[in-house]
Amino acid sequence: MGSKYRISVFGLGPVGLATAVCFAKKGLSVVGIDPDKSRLEEIRERRAPYFEPNLDEYLKEVIKNETFMATDDYSTNAQSDFAFITVGTPSNEEGTINLASVKDAARMIGGSLNAAENSQLVVVKSTVTPGTARNTVKPVLEAESGKTAGIDFGLCSNPEFLREGSAVYDAQFPDRIVIGSDDTESIRKLEALYREIHTPTAPPILKTTHENAELIKYANNAFLAMKVSYINCIANIAEHIPYADVRAIAQGIGLDNRIGPQFLNAGLGWGGSCFPKDLNALIAYSKRAGYVPELIEAVVEINRTQARKALEFALDALGSLEKRKAAILGLAFKPYTNDMREAVSIPVINSLLAKGASVTAYDPAAIEDARKVFGNTIGYAKNSFECIEQADCCVIVTEWDEFKRMQPKTFLERMRQPIVIDGRRIYDAAEFLHVGIKFYAIGLGPAK
Ligand code: UDX
Repeated sequence: MGSKYRISVFGLGPVGLATAVCFAKKGLSVVGIDPDKSRLEEIRERRAPYFEPNLDEYLKEVIKNETFMATDDYSTNAQSDFAFITVGTPSNEEGTINLASVKDAARMIGGSLNAAENSQLVVVKSTVTPGTARNTVKPVLEAESGKTAGIDFGLCSNPEFLREGSAVYDAQFPDRIVIGSDDTESIRKLEALYREIHTPTAPPILKTTHENAELIKYANNAFLAMKVSYINCIANIAEHIPYADVRAIAQGIGLDNRIGPQFLNAGLGWGGSCFPKDLNALIAYSKRAGYVPELIEAVVEINRTQARKALEFALDALGSLEKRKAAILGLAFKPYTNDMREAVSIPVINSLLAKGASVTAYDPAAIEDARKVFGNTIGYAKNSFECIEQADCCVIVTEWDEFKRMQPKTFLERMRQPIVIDGRRIYDAAEFLHVGIKFYAIGLGPAK
C-alpha cells in the first residue's frame, strides 16, 4: 500500500528508529537522518542497533521494500512533507534538559526548508519541557529558513509514550495521540497523517497547545513513577505488619477502576533513560517557573531510598558482608532490554561492594552493557545457576522470566547460605520459607 506522504525522521535512537520503521511499514516513504556514522552503518546493514522486539525484522522489511532509508545528508529533508524531531534530550547537571540535539535538528530542517518543494510540517516528538517548541525550535527554524512558522511551514508538538522493550508495538498501537500547535492547519495535517497510518480506527487524538502537549508527556511519566513510588511506600509499611503482603494490597486497590492494576508492582524502584531524566527535568523546570513540586520530589526521594532495601535485607540476614559473596540476578533497568541507564542494579551493587561483599552478576541481555558500568569490580556469570553458586545471598533485581522459573531447591543446592532477597516479588514466599530458605521480599510482613 503506497502512501503519498514523505516523512523525514531526525534522530535514529530507539524512539526515532521505531517511529521511522513503523511509518515505513505502513507504506509511507521515510528518510531517517542521523549524524552517527556507526549507527547509520548498522542500520544500512539491516541490523537494528538496539535490542527491541520486532525492530530488526521490521527494519529488514522496510529496507527491502525501499520505504525506508537512512542517511546523514539532511538536505534530503527538502522532499519531505513532515519532518519529525526524535533526537535525545539528556539531562544537564542541574536536571534541566540539554537541547543541543534539538537545536541541531531544527537548524538542519530550517536549512532545508528553502529547497522544500512544498510547505513542510515540523513535528517535535522529542521529550522537551513546556515552551521549547515555541521559544527554541520555532525561532531556530525561522532564523535558518527566513520563513515564518504557521505561514510558510507548520510546527506541531507530538510527544511519544513508547516503552523500552515494546517501542515498536507502542508506535504501531498508541493508546492516544497528542498534538499541540498554534495553527489549526498544522493540526489538521498531522491528524490526517495519523488517521491514514492508524486506519480504520485511530486512537483518541487530543488537539491542544504546544505547552499542554509538552507538559502532558512529563505529567504522564511523573504519574507513572508516582504510582510505583506509591506502592513502594505501601510496601515499606506492609513490611512492619505481620502477615501483610504488598502484592495483595496492590491487587486489592488495582481492582478499583479509578486506579487500575498497572504500575503497582512494588520492587527496588524505577530506573531507565526516561523516568529519572523526566522527573528531574520537571522538578527543575517547575522550580525555575516559581513552584516547588514537593510531591514529585518525594516520588524521586522514595525511589532513591528504595534501592537501599537490598543492602538492608542482606545486612539483616548476614550481619556483615565482609568477604561474603552476593549473587545479583538482573542488571538491566527492566526485563526485555539490555539498557543499563539509571538501572537500580547500579546503586544496589555499589552498596554491597561498599560493605565489603564480592559480587557476581548475571543478566540475559545486559552483561556487555554492565561491563561498561562495573568493569572488573564485579564477576559476570554465564547463567543464573553459575551466578548463585556458593553465594551467601542472592538478590533478584530485574524480573526476567528465566529467574521466575527457578525453584527453591536450586537455591538450596547451589548457594553456600540459602538467603534470597526478592527485589521484584517474583516468588511465592511460602514455597521458599517452607524449605528453610531465609527469604526476604519487598513489602512482605513478618510471619509470626
Ligand atoms: C516509560 C514510560 O512507560 C513510557 O510511556 C515513556 O515513553 C518512557 O518511559 P520505560 O522507561 O521504557 O517507559 O519503562 P517502564 O516500563 O515505564 O518502566 C519504568 C521503570 O519503572 C522501570 O525501571 C520498571 O522496572 C519500573 N516499574 C514499572 C516498577 O518498578 N514497577 C511497576 O509496576 C512498573
